[in-house]
Amino acid sequence: MARIYLSPPDLAGNELELLRDALESNWIAPLGPHVDAFEAEMASRVHVPHALALSSGTAALHLALEVLGVGVGDEVWMSTLTFAATANATTYVRATPVFVDSVRASWNLDPALLGQALDDAAKVNRLPKAVIAVDLYGQCADFEPITAACQRHGVLLIEDAAEGLGATYQGRPAGSFADLSILSFNGNKIITTSGGGMLLGRRKEWIDRARYLATQARSQARHYEHEAIGFNYRMSNLLAAVGRAQLADLERRVTARRATNAAYRRALGHLPGWAFMPAAPGCVSTFWLTCAEIDAPVYGGDRDTVIDRLAAADIEARPVWKPMHLQPIFAGARCIGGSVAESLFERGICLPSGSNLDEAQRTRVVDAILAGGHAQS
Ligand SMILES: Cc1ncc(COP(=O)(O)O)c(C=O)c1O
Repeated sequence: MARIYLSPPDLAGNELELLRDALESNWIAPLGPHVDAFEAEMASRVHVPHALALSSGTAALHLALEVLGVGVGDEVWMSTLTFAATANATTYVRATPVFVDSVRASWNLDPALLGQALDDAAKVNRLPKAVIAVDLYGQCADFEPITAACQRHGVLLIEDAAEGLGATYQGRPAGSFADLSILSFNGNKIITTSGGGMLLGRRKEWIDRARYLATQARSQARHYEHEAIGFNYRMSNLLAAVGRAQLADLERRVTARRATNAAYRRALGHLPGWAFMPAAPGCVSTFWLTCAEIDAPVYGGDRDTVIDRLAAADIEARPVWKPMHLQPIFAGARCIGGSVAESLFERGICLPSGSNLDEAQRTRVVDAILAGGHAQS
């Protein structure tokens, strides 16, 4: 029996056709018609006017901070419960990351805690330059109060929608909520280009500036003229062709991941001590990954027991992200709150959720969990 992965790539079917077109056109470069089309199609899907296809979501985060003018001496506040890339990008511009706890109702950035902390910071003149809100595991952060708190204090907002593409919040698509937002097309994401990302925003001058920085900061001249330090961050036309095929298939992927979430809830929701990641009001999650919290004493085993049990059946499962304030590399960083994210990490598990997970595989996952002798179901 084949190994079941957490979130493997899922081919839409016409990747080869578009890739062949890219190859035959000889646009084998980090620019070309498929890059332009992928940007336009994504901008239209996410309802944001300007988009820039890049080599990764991490590159998009880096450029977002660059174009917003974040630098030495600035603080960037962000969800502590995230993948390291969110925090790492802050260090590329030599700003200081400050972490903010999650709220149990959504596992995302706690808007009340953020709002209070911004109010307090304003009183002592220590406001951050920017806030990064993450759309965790396919569910949007609570952008209404987050945006209000940021606007009250003139703090810039970045949406890290690497895990959020396809989700909505109050009827609007993930990736449309902040001054700038980023997407990832890494191999495990809801659509993939093997590696890739995108920066999106409403202000053309920010996306133009990011495009300039992403192409080695080449000024207009016959020769190579540089007035700024640039990066080589553009997406290949070959990968953009793959991305277009994947994007056209996004709705099916959202439906498949949501169906998997519903199936897990039906099959495992009765287990004592199990609580699935809550669906927050106003949010339609993609359930990019289906996650649950396990109360070990009540269940009779902790999240590692379940991960080990699945591993023995050749099934990949993972703990929920380890919060950034617990990471050795960010040991000295300030964290506002933190206990909610800590407990979600200690108790949280991510289950196989790929859009190509079939019913037989889903049953294998469920059976492997239910086979645990000591679970008091
Ligand atoms: C929340 C979050 N932010 C950023 C990234 C970075 O994206 P990439 O891997 O495309 O650099 C990822 C995942 O990879 C992520 O999950």
